[in-house]
Amino acid sequence: MVSSDRDSALNTPELTDKMRSEWDERARENARHYIATGQLNWNDEEYFESGRENVRREILTDMGNICQGKDPKQMTVLEIGCGSGRITRALSEVFGQVYAVDISGEMIRQARESLHDRPNAHVFQNNGSDLSILGDIRVDFAFSYIVFQHIPSRQVISSYVRDVHRLLRPGGLFKFQVQGGSSMDAPPGDTWLGAPFSDADAVTMAEECGFEPRHRIGAETQYFWLWFFRQTWWERARGILRKQGWQGIPAIFR
Ligand SMILES: C[S@@+](CC[C@H](N)C(=O)[O-])C[C@H]1O[C@@H](n2cnc3c(N)ncnc32)[C@H](O)[C@@H]1O
Repeated sequence: MVSSDRDSALNTPELTDKMRSEWDERARENARHYIATGQLNWNDEEYFESGRENVRREILTDMGNICQGKDPKQMTVLEIGCGSGRITRALSEVFGQVYAVDISGEMIRQARESLHDRPNAHVFQNNGSDLSILGDIRVDFAFSYIVFQHIPSRQVISSYVRDVHRLLRPGGLFKFQVQGGSSMDAPPGDTWLGAPFSDADAVTMAEECGFEPRHRIGAETQYFWLWFFRQTWWERARGILRKQGWQGIPAIFR
C-alpha cells in the first residue's frame, strides 16, 4: 500500500468531513475562482470555455487511447471532482452520457444549476472517498483533473482508483492528474495541498489497484498525468506471477 506520514494524521471519516466542509465554504465564497484560480470573476462564457479548452487539450488530442474505436456518443464517462460543472459541460458535448461526483454539496448544487440544459450530464454528491453513490454502472472512460492534487491522503486517492477499476470496462482508460514530486510537505489534513506522488508511487498504486500505468507525464511537477488502463484478471495474474519471478507461467497467461 502506498502511504505517507500525513495519512495517519486524520482518519478517513474525519478527513472527508473536513474536505467537505472546507470545499463547501470555498464554493459559497467563490466556487469558480477556487476551481480555476486564474481569474477572480469569471463570466459564464469564459468559465465554460476554459473547461472546453481542458477537454480539447487532454481529451480531444487523445481519442485513440480514450475511445479505442468506439463512437464517443455511445460512450459513458465518469468525472471525479466535477466542481460546479466546468469540465462536465464540455464532456457532455463530446460523450453520450457523463456521470460526475464531487464531495461538496454546494458545488453539486451549482453544477446542477449550470447543467440544467444538459440532460446527458448526471452529477452526484459523494462521500469523498469512493464511487458507491453510482452503484454498479459501467463506464468506458474515467477522468479527473485538479482534484487529487487537493486530497492529502494517498489512501483516499487509492480508494478512488480501486473503485474506478470496479466500474471501468476491461481495457478502459482512467486518465487523471495528481501532484507530482515527493519532498513537498503540508500541514496534516490540509485540504488544498494534496499528497505528492513520485513516479514509483504512481506505478505501485496502479499495480495495487489492477491497472497498467502505461503512460506517465510530468512527474515532479504539479501536473503529473497518469494513463491507467484497466487490466483484465489474467493480465493482473500474469503481472503478479512475473513479479514473484515465477518461471512456470502457463502459456495462456504469457
Ligand atoms: C479545483 S476544483 C476542480 C473542479 C473540476 N475538476 C474542474 O477542473 O473544473 C477541485 C474539486 O474537487 C472537489 N474535491 C476535493 N476533494 C474531494 C474528494 N475527496 N472527493 C471528491 N471531490 C473532491 C472539490 O469539492 C472541488 O470541486
